[in-house]
Amino acid sequence: MRSGGLETVELAKQLFQALDIKREDKDKHTQWMKKGLRFFNAPAAIIICVDRILAEGTPAFDIGTVTQTICPTALHYGLGTCIQDQGVMYPEILRKFCNIPDTKQIIIAIAIGYPDWNFPANQLEIPRESVDKITTWYGFD
Ligand SMILES: Cc1cc2nc3c(=O)[nH]c(=O)nc-3n(C[C@H](O)[C@H](O)[C@H](O)COP(=O)(O)O)c2cc1C
Repeated sequence: MRSGGLETVELAKQLFQALDIKREDKDKHTQWMKKGLRFFNAPAAIIICVDRILAEGTPAFDIGTVTQTICPTALHYGLGTCIQDQGVMYPEILRKFCNIPDTKQIIIAIAIGYPDWNFPANQLEIPRESVDKITTWYGFD
């Protein structure tokens, strides 16, 4: 969950409460972190890479667009996704395991699988910023 600033802390609190992970419970925190590194036990993960030759341009837009497009498209097929920094935290292991050449920069992972809606983290209602808060409107008054 990424919302930036204080909200992220609030969301993390809600998540750990739902998962019954107390602040001081280092073991459970570690278990949760390890689960994230294993793509939250999803059966598959998509690793988004970009060819280094494009690094001079503006690949960030393309990377964001393709990543964002995959998630709702997966949903259309009944699949859930989780965009994950954690999944690429050890890029060199991934590079070796997935045979990703050095010419490609590893950017982000998307865990993908059929969601377990009974899992407490999947029952959290994640608030959205209102459009008015993140938009400045000009004209048309
Ligand atoms: C670039 C990026 C990296 C993220 N990395 C992680 C991560 O490593 N672990 C995690 O649990 N969530 C991570 N998230 C948040 C989840 O993907 C989040 O659940 C997702 O953005 C969907 O949010 P929603 O449930 O509010 O729709 C990340 C999100 C983004 C956009």
